[in-house]
Amino acid sequence: MILSIESSCDDSAIAITEIATNRLLFHKKISQEIEHSIYGGVVPELAARLHAEALPKILQECEPYFDKLKAVAVTSSPGLAVTLIEGVTLAKAVSVGLNIPIIGVNHLIGHIYSLFIEKETTFPLTVLLVSGGHTQVMEVKSLSEIETVAKSMDDSFGESFDKVAKMMGLGYPGGPAIQNLAKEGNRKRYDFTVPLLRTPKFAFSYSGLKNAVRLAVEEANKTDYKDIAASFEHIATKHLTHKLKKYFAQYPPKNFAIVGGASANLYLRSQIEALLKPYGARLFLSELQYCSDNAAMIGRVAVDMYKAKMFSSLEELNVVAKSNL
Ligand code: KG4
Ligand code: ZN
Repeated sequence: MILSIESSCDDSAIAITEIATNRLLFHKKISQEIEHSIYGGVVPELAARLHAEALPKILQECEPYFDKLKAVAVTSSPGLAVTLIEGVTLAKAVSVGLNIPIIGVNHLIGHIYSLFIEKETTFPLTVLLVSGGHTQVMEVKSLSEIETVAKSMDDSFGESFDKVAKMMGLGYPGGPAIQNLAKEGNRKRYDFTVPLLRTPKFAFSYSGLKNAVRLAVEEANKTDYKDIAASFEHIATKHLTHKLKKYFAQYPPKNFAIVGGASANLYLRSQIEALLKPYGARLFLSELQYCSDNAAMIGRVAVDMYKAKMFSSLEELNVVAKSNL
């Protein structure tokens, strides 16, 4: 079995996965959404302190599995340095204490593997990752052959939902709050500009849209918020489908996946589904409970890394503040 730890942002989570079967034997996650909500975003120092409290508590519950563990895995990048270090330090202690190897896992590969929890992998796969930290498209051939073909030049898709929610005083995380409000709104009422419409570059940008929404919120009454939320969600999604449509014209999709916390967005899911239809492409989605950060996805990557003997050394496994694939 492998014990895996996730602490890259505001979720403290630990999982136990059986190597031979991919079975998830244990998974517990303590989210910090309520604690960060009043600030409208994650406060890194507060997050680190909450991880320091939560992780050892969850680890204690894993004691019955200790003598069966073959390795300990931990998210080592990318993420908030002060929170990653909490997980990495604990994983190092487990590695030394139980005398088992350590595996440093890339969080973004973790999101890709959220598709394969308790399942076999399916490759090749074109993946759209939409989370609080990232918006990118990757061509994934295998665990170690991942090419990022497009990414955001500024804010991420999920982050823009968080910021728009903050402007409207809806708390954190903003994604679910905006999605709920948008359901009652008119998507066509506010004519926000689709980002990078005339740029041929395959890339994303959300800072311009966020600022346009800010102006609309400042001039609006509270009763207009639902229309702003709906129009914003529509344009934020249209930006993704517009860029993907151009990409698909060149590289028709076969197996396509949406992963990351914001892949829970139902409007996004429906629009991507419609986009894939003419190609007869298959759409892969993670179970809703595994879209946002969790340790089960880290454990699932670690099973494949263990089989490929991709271990880290205790000395070299250090926290990198920012890294891309
Ligand atoms: O993957 P995740 O849990 O953390 C990161 O790795 O960043 O993603 C969290 C992000 C937040 O920005 C949150 O607002 C967004 O995912 N999110 C959503 C929805 N649910 C969560 N965004 C849009 N619509 C949703 N339904
Ligand atoms: Zn994430």
